[in-house]
Amino acid sequence: MTTTFAGLWRELEPLGRDGAAGGYRRFSWTEADARCRAWFTDRATERGLRVEADNNGNLWAWWGRRGPRAVATGSHLDSVPGGGAYDGALGVVSALAAVDLLRERGFHPERPVVLAVFTEEEGARWGVPCLGSRLLTGAIAPDAARRLTDDDGVTLAEAMAAAGCDPALIGPGDDLLAGLAAFVELHVEQGRALAPLGAAVGVGEGIWPHGRWRLSFHGRADHAGTARLADRSDPMLPLARTVLAAREAAGRNGALATVGKVTAEPGGANAVPETATAWLDARAPAEAALAETVAAVRSAAEEAAAEQGVALGVRQESYTPPVRFDDGLRQRIAAVLAAAGPGPAPALRTGAGHDAGVLAARLPTAMLFVRNPDGVSHSPAERADPADCEAGVRALAAVLEDLAG
Ligand code: GLV
Ligand code: MN
Ligand code: MN
Repeated sequence: MTTTFAGLWRELEPLGRDGAAGGYRRFSWTEADARCRAWFTDRATERGLRVEADNNGNLWAWWGRRGPRAVATGSHLDSVPGGGAYDGALGVVSALAAVDLLRERGFHPERPVVLAVFTEEEGARWGVPCLGSRLLTGAIAPDAARRLTDDDGVTLAEAMAAAGCDPALIGPGDDLLAGLAAFVELHVEQGRALAPLGAAVGVGEGIWPHGRWRLSFHGRADHAGTARLADRSDPMLPLARTVLAAREAAGRNGALATVGKVTAEPGGANAVPETATAWLDARAPAEAALAETVAAVRSAAEEAAAEQGVALGVRQESYTPPVRFDDGLRQRIAAVLAAAGPGPAPALRTGAGHDAGVLAARLPTAMLFVRNPDGVSHSPAERADPADCEAGVRALAAVLEDLAG
């Protein structure tokens, strides 16, 4: 049995990677995802943990009998396209390594400890982030989720059925949630707040409100070599204006706005496209600033579309209100880390979404962040130092020991 963080990390690292130095593509319910899930199931089972999948495809590995007042930890194993090695995976590997460490110390939990792996946290395949935890908590209707369609036209229901899960059963898991006393998610830091403070581990304070909007510009396909500029109805032009407007609106409102996914259909190099679609990801410290940013982008898109004779459709694909992690749990964790660690763990707010943020609507949740020396994430350049990963495992173990002891 592999007992160290480094050994577990080495095993998981090659799964779902595009070439040796490339990023990860671990989209949910794909072959790469199945390999990651099988890896987790095997590693947990060989540790004597009982692994179950809930109706939404989230995995739960129980240390001790499943029962009330359980302490949950874990994260996700899916990735964005071209993702880094640490986002999600660090929390899952650290959870297994923390169990090993606690056992080495002879710790026997009084409450059950359960290790969770959430499905489709990134929303990379079906567009809605934290889909597994949203379904579990009832934050998305099962019918709406079943109908979600990926870029190849495959619905969530079809992909789950192909993987042997019954999509008719997806939806809230009130019994499971009622049995959880707390969820603590360890995650690689995204951004660079810990390095200047000289801290290896931080404690999450809250998450900015954020959402995704799909803007579809519909024009008229035409010949690139013969259609006069004045005669075109080119959907790419208002899309381009909208991207610049998003940047300006975010700057004005102290927000972040990103257009990271754009498609032109039918996609001919020598044709004016018929449709151009852009996904707007917008986040801000407060909901008012977020709403103003999105409204400004929307009106810029409407104006630019009208000028070009292009039709525009705007659809909100997901929305996550602001999250403040449980005060009592945070204070308890801060006290544990101050006593067990090299010093106080700074409190961090983040613009990145997490399953802990979705679960916060139903139970006390908290997060630990492990220093990211460069701050880069959602990128193959994402990294964390091995010594900091080990510090994260020790911090998580101390927290679990306190909460479950
Ligand atoms: C999750 O990584 C997010 O996009 O916030
Ligand atoms: Mn992510
Ligand atoms: Mn993540």
